[in-house]
Amino acid sequence: MRRPFIAGNWKMHGDRKSAKQYIDEFSVPKTAVAKRDIVIGVPFTLLQYWGAYATRVKPYLQWAAEDVHWEPKGAFTGDVSVSMLKDFKTPYCIVGHSERREYHKESNKQVNAKMNALLEGGIIPIVCVGETLKEREAGKKEAVVGSQVRGSIIASAKSLDLSKIVVAYEPVWAIGTGKTATSAQAQEMCKFIRKELAAGLGKQIADGIRILYGGSVKPDNIDELMAQADIDGVLVGGASLKAKDFSRIANYKEKKK
Ligand code: PGA
Repeated sequence: MRRPFIAGNWKMHGDRKSAKQYIDEFSVPKTAVAKRDIVIGVPFTLLQYWGAYATRVKPYLQWAAEDVHWEPKGAFTGDVSVSMLKDFKTPYCIVGHSERREYHKESNKQVNAKMNALLEGGIIPIVCVGETLKEREAGKKEAVVGSQVRGSIIASAKSLDLSKIVVAYEPVWAIGTGKTATSAQAQEMCKFIRKELAAGLGKQIADGIRILYGGSVKPDNIDELMAQADIDGVLVGGASLKAKDFSRIANYKEKKK
């Protein structure tokens, strides 16, 4: 059984004041908390505060960084290393989000280097993949996502324990657009990703990896998405900014898979 993983992604939003209000307001029953990982990706500037405050008042509300550099240190202005994230006890880190791939031109090779550096440093990577609308309409969704999975995840990770990673399937056309993939479309691609992972890493490892869906997840579509066999969780942008909405998402109603 894969433990459900409900993640938010604040992107470039939030300061200490709004984070405090959010943590205070966030509320999920103990029964759900016991069975699920609940994590929010926050900007670097909030890592220390979030860790210190949430750990004290809502210990189940974990946090993630939204990016990292693959080198341990050096002349990389504006970047942050794995050991710097560890300095703030950051348990998770998102890598390869489509916004990083698009605006910062990140390649699969770089995403893979980040993933490896995180695993070596003991931080769990959340690796994002997903096709654009143009690629989907051209019938290339499997080719694109398959090459992202191979290039960003399977490529050079032989000695590392990949069963710990989390993979997020986020079709670019569904991010921030209000256009959610149907639960069948999301399931189809998460299943495909698991198949690719099995081909590269073996079935046992692939069966243990948690695969999330992301792209306009909301309180009114979470239950259906979480009912899909290969969807083990979600990565939520816009709707994770409101404590009430994200509380409802984290407290989704379980259906039999
Ligand atoms: P969205 O973003 O939920 O606002 O579509 C998802 C993401 O980018 O992780």
